[in-house]
Amino acid sequence: MVLLENERIVLESLDARHAEALLAYHDRNRAHLEPWEPARDPDFYELAYHRETIRISLANAAIGASERFVAVERATAQIVANVNLWNIRRGVVQAAVLGYSVDALAQGHGYATTCARAVVDHAFGTLGLHRIETSYNPINAASARVLRKIGFTVEGYARDYLFIDGAWRDAILVGLVNPDPTILA
Ligand SMILES: CC(C)(COP(=O)(O)OP(=O)(O)OC[C@H]1O[C@@H](n2cnc3c(N)ncnc32)[C@H](O)[C@@H]1OP(=O)(O)O)[C@@H](O)C(=O)NCCC(=O)NCCS
Repeated sequence: MVLLENERIVLESLDARHAEALLAYHDRNRAHLEPWEPARDPDFYELAYHRETIRISLANAAIGASERFVAVERATAQIVANVNLWNIRRGVVQAAVLGYSVDALAQGHGYATTCARAVVDHAFGTLGLHRIETSYNPINAASARVLRKIGFTVEGYARDYLFIDGAWRDAILVGLVNPDPTILA
């Protein structure tokens, strides 16, 4: 599924075709992403790992549990951004959690804002969700700015919220409610 196309990137569902490019993305962005993402398994930087996580991602998408998207740069065919919608919950909650990252060399072009906004629109439109949640480390000013530009508002402060880069890190909790809410039957 293609969520967004412009002259520079195509934002599309992650699938088996992306395995090599996904590995290359994580390999060249180790130092860039380590401070913000969970510790990686020893085999994370191997192609088989990404083939398997893509297989699991597709199975999770098929049951409506999560969706993963990648932004592929037209000029280079490289993945320049990842956006995930995970922990999709239905029932009276109708919510999901948003996650994203952008290649170190592709920052500052608005990719995070453009791609995360497209995924939020998809979540509220096609998926009919009511609410998107996420969080960011208080020192992550760029992520705070991205979320603010999309319209997220601060809902709380969680101490020792996520175990990232070898320690429990505080987080600012943010949320965004569908401006066109679905009325549940
Ligand atoms: C956070 C991240 C996704 C931003 O990606 P990006 O494509 O550069 O983001 P955008 O270009 O869409 O927007 C970034 C905004 O933050 C601003 N910004 C960047 N660095 C900043 C800083 N140190 N302080 C304040 N604002 C900053 C930019 O100026 C821009 O705002 P503007 O459009 O008003 O000028 C990227 O840096 C990244 O992948 N970081 C590591 C992983 C991560 O943090 N993931 C999110 C975890 S919650």
